[in-house]
Amino acid sequence: MITYQIVFEGTIISSATFDKADFTPEVLTCVDQSGTIDRVISATDSDYQSVKQAAIDNHVLQKIPEGSFLLPGFTDLHIHAPQWSQAGLALDKPLNEWLNTYTFPLEAKFKDLSFAKKVYQSLVKELLAHGTTTGLYFGSIHNDANLELAKVCAQLGQRAFIGKVAMDNPEQTPDYYRDDSSQVSLKETEKFIKALQELQNHTQAELTPVITPRFVPSCTDETLYGLGKLAQKYNLPIQSHCSESIWEDRYAQERFKKSDTQVLDQFGLLTDKAVMAHGTQLTDADFKLFRERKASLAHCPISNVYFGNSVMRVQDAHQKNINIGLGTDISGGFSPSIYRNMQQAVMSSQILKDNGNDNARITCANAFYLATIGGAKALHLNSGQIKPGFKADLQIVQDQYFDVFSNNASDIFERLVYHTNKENIKQVYVSGKLVHNSVGEDNGK
Ligand code: GUN
Ligand code: FE
Repeated sequence: MITYQIVFEGTIISSATFDKADFTPEVLTCVDQSGTIDRVISATDSDYQSVKQAAIDNHVLQKIPEGSFLLPGFTDLHIHAPQWSQAGLALDKPLNEWLNTYTFPLEAKFKDLSFAKKVYQSLVKELLAHGTTTGLYFGSIHNDANLELAKVCAQLGQRAFIGKVAMDNPEQTPDYYRDDSSQVSLKETEKFIKALQELQNHTQAELTPVITPRFVPSCTDETLYGLGKLAQKYNLPIQSHCSESIWEDRYAQERFKKSDTQVLDQFGLLTDKAVMAHGTQLTDADFKLFRERKASLAHCPISNVYFGNSVMRVQDAHQKNINIGLGTDISGGFSPSIYRNMQQAVMSSQILKDNGNDNARITCANAFYLATIGGAKALHLNSGQIKPGFKADLQIVQDQYFDVFSNNASDIFERLVYHTNKENIKQVYVSGKLVHNSVGEDNGK
């Protein structure tokens, strides 16, 4: 019999399809030494007792208390790491003014490594505590600070995809915060790719560099072209913003006579490894191109309330077979919680329906799918599901109203989506490794 790293005994809740979350009572979830889920054993399976006994003998059985549940960890597909230091602040201006008034000056401060270290430690800890086991990050233009973010993720055990932000267009970026030229943008991006791959090799952490044009307006044609080539050369993921706001859309039309999506595609930046944030203004023709290129969307519903001028059409995009995940968009979105973003995704979709898009409403099950399977698919990860062969990215979550309200499976599930706070997330695991533990902080409750 395999000696497991850890065996969880209890009920699991995991997305089955876009429309359905499975609730599987009282099973053993067995994690092997590599951090992969090897088996999920139900009480009626013949070796349930023997596997359980072996886990007890090896001191690796983890019993999930009654009223708590084992869920997959979340993937946050859109985080601006330096903006953590203004999360919840400065949300009173439209996107372009917000960038110039608050955000560029703030990100420029990440030249200071000790400031970066402090902010990044706080951010990654907070994301893990909210159940986010994989993060897709924009850093700043500064490679020293970006590497610091990578080290923090390695130390704290979060799987991270990190990009050096490329921005060199003098017409749309301030002189105190831009790459000096297109050559600098590309050279620094390549340097970061190599440095991160080296760090990954000697820490055995789960780190991947990401090609990161900030968005079309911030970049010159040379940089967009060169970044497309780098993505191809190193076969890397790509992240950017796409049709986030009316302003961004008009900008692409004025400069290129094309949609934002078509511009990204023209430069080789819309690939099956691309994750484009927001997409509130995407047309059906844009959706078609996303589908053809197999590019994913990062839906950031809180941020969209402030900057998006609309709600992203999740149902329409899903029905056109586009893969979608969720993003906090810190700090365009104030909350580090994917739970809070699942709630907002459902709430905002209702507004879209009320405004005449009959098909727009999404359910809690849909939002949970985006947070788990959708996010993992966007990054080509075997994560986001509690099934054999998947990474043991897990969270143990307490239903704070268990035994107070009704306890049928679908009620528990919806309640977890709507009511889970940081305090209810008891433990978090990435590839089977404990990365957050609040058990005992409240006298073992
Ligand atoms: N577009 C370009 N940069 C940004 C950013 O930092 N946040 C958001 N929400 N949109 C952007
Ligand atoms: Fe963003």
